[in-house]
Amino acid sequence: MPQHIAIIMDGNGRWAKRRGMPRTAGHAAGASTFKAIARHANKIGVPFMTVYAFSTENWKRPPEEVDNIMKLLKDYLKDAKNFKDENIKVRFIGNLEVLDEEIKALIKEDEEASKDATGMTLNIALNYGGRDELVRATKEICKRVQSGALSVDEIDEQTVSDSLYTAGQPDPDFIIRPSGEYRLSNYLIWQSAYAEFWFSDILWPDFKPRDLDRAIRDFGHRNRRFGGV
Ligand code: FPP
Repeated sequence: MPQHIAIIMDGNGRWAKRRGMPRTAGHAAGASTFKAIARHANKIGVPFMTVYAFSTENWKRPPEEVDNIMKLLKDYLKDAKNFKDENIKVRFIGNLEVLDEEIKALIKEDEEASKDATGMTLNIALNYGGRDELVRATKEICKRVQSGALSVDEIDEQTVSDSLYTAGQPDPDFIIRPSGEYRLSNYLIWQSAYAEFWFSDILWPDFKPRDLDRAIRDFGHRNRRFGGV
């Protein structure tokens, strides 16, 4: 079983287009898939899962589409039973400062309400970018050096890992990207150094719990050597 599955929920727009529907309908369908997959992952005992809900680059999309994704997130956060009844610990990673006040308040509320959950930890990446995360981590480390709390020679890989949003969590060991794209798109770039990848042509709204099971079975057959023999 992977310890940390990271998913790029891709293909919502194409799914909608194929049906002659607006892209927003694709995101709504993608949000339903996300809920079903999170529930299933928790049920089968995945300890950590991270989903890419909105990247630092996604602001380039038309404002209606951005608003629609934020609204879907708000709906999810308002419906606390999504994770409360499931015993899921929900956390947000990304630059959250620039988000609107309502969403920030909901995030705070839900992180607090679910903090003692003993099931899966679910990270939702929102206004997240891997490079942005590394710049922030670098600044934080520099400040600690400047203040005398840390010396340059003490900086090691652990120092960097501990300065990321995912501090204290295992690195993702399995990255799933559906929809026929084969790139990382600035997702968890430090953390994914030794991750296994699983690609598929399935568009995210069509991704089913059985597809997750199939991906996990494939993961079980991978020979992970971490640079060794
Ligand atoms: C990528 O597909 C998807 C996104 C940028 C948004 C993902 C958001 C959701 C699944 C809904 C909200 C999330 C939660 C957690 C409730 P795309 O739009 O790039 O698809 P395309 O490549 O086919 O155009």
